[in-house]
Amino acid sequence: MGKLAGKVAFVTGSSSGIGAACALRFVEDGAIVVGFDLADSSEGDWAEAVKQQPKCLFIEGDVTDDDALKAAIEKTHSELGCLDIVVNSAGVAGVGSVHLCDPAEMDRTMDINFNGTFLACRHALPIMMEQRSGSIMNIASVEGLEAQEFTAPYNASKGAVVLLSKNMAIDYGRWGIRVNAICPGFIETPMSAAIEDPGMRARVDGAHQLGRMGTPREVANVAAFLASDEASFVSGSAMTVDGGFSAGKRFGVDELYGLAPTD
Ligand SMILES: NC(=O)c1ccc[n+]([C@@H]2O[C@H](COP(=O)([O-])OP(=O)(O)OC[C@H]3O[C@@H](n4cnc5c(N)ncnc54)[C@H](O)[C@@H]3O)[C@@H](O)[C@H]2O)c1
Repeated sequence: MGKLAGKVAFVTGSSSGIGAACALRFVEDGAIVVGFDLADSSEGDWAEAVKQQPKCLFIEGDVTDDDALKAAIEKTHSELGCLDIVVNSAGVAGVGSVHLCDPAEMDRTMDINFNGTFLACRHALPIMMEQRSGSIMNIASVEGLEAQEFTAPYNASKGAVVLLSKNMAIDYGRWGIRVNAICPGFIETPMSAAIEDPGMRARVDGAHQLGRMGTPREVANVAAFLASDEASFVSGSAMTVDGGFSAGKRFGVDELYGLAPTD
C-alpha cells in the first residue's frame, strides 16, 4: 500500500513540469488525481499518471477563473467522494525590473501565480473543513524567499504565496488542515528552458550548492511526503527544495585552499 492510498488530490498546472510530476508521484503512491490546466497533455508525466490510474480526471480551465475552479473542485469532491490534497502549481514567469515593467505584466503574473492559488484554496478549504482534514501545498519558489534580478512580478507573486500559505496554516490548523509552501530552486521544466546561454546556465547551476538545477521529480518527492500522514506535524513551512540555493553565499575558499573535490 502506498502512503497516499485512497487519497484524492487536485493539482493545478498538471499538464507540465512540477504539477505533472506531482500527479505521477501521487498516483504511484496510491492516490487518484484530478488535473486542472489550460490544456490536457497526451505525453509526459501527466499522461503516465492517467495510464497508471485510469480513474484520474482532467478538467480544462484557467486558474484565474473563479467559477471554473469552483466547478472543478466541486466535481472532484462529488465524483471522488473526498478532497485530501491540493497542489497549486499553475504558474508563469513574470519578468521585468520595476521601472521597465508593464502594469499588465504585473497583473498577469499576480493573477495566475497568486490569485489562482488563493481562488483554488478558497474553494477547497470548506470541503476540507467539513472533513476536518487536508494537505494544501502551494508551489512558491526560492524567489518568494529572496529576490532575484529582473523578476519583480515573479518575486512579488511568490512572496505573496509564501505568506498566504502561512496565513492559512494559522487559520485552518485547528480544522485539521495543513498548509505548506514549497520553494523550489531552478528546476528543469519548460519554464526554465529559457536559460539557453551556456555562461548563464553555468552560473545558475553554480548558484545551487549541489552544482546543478533540480528535476520535477525531486520536487514531487517532497510534495508526496507533505501530502502524506508522515508529515502530520508539518504545517506553515516554506520548505526549500533548492539544492542549497538559499543556504547562503559561497566564495570558493575551499578551492583556494585545495579542499574542494577535484573529480
Ligand atoms: N521551473 C522552475 O525553475 C521553478 C522554480 C521554482 C518554482 N516554480 C514554480 O513551479 C510551478 C510549476 O512551474 P513549472 O516549472 O512546472 O512550469 P511549466 O511551465 O512546466 O508548468 C506550468 C503549468 O501551469 C499551467 N498554467 C499556466 N497558466 C495557467 C492558468 N492560467 N491556468 C491553468 N494552468 C496554467 C501551464 O499550462 C503548465 O502546464 C510554477 O508555479 C512555478 O512558478 C518553478
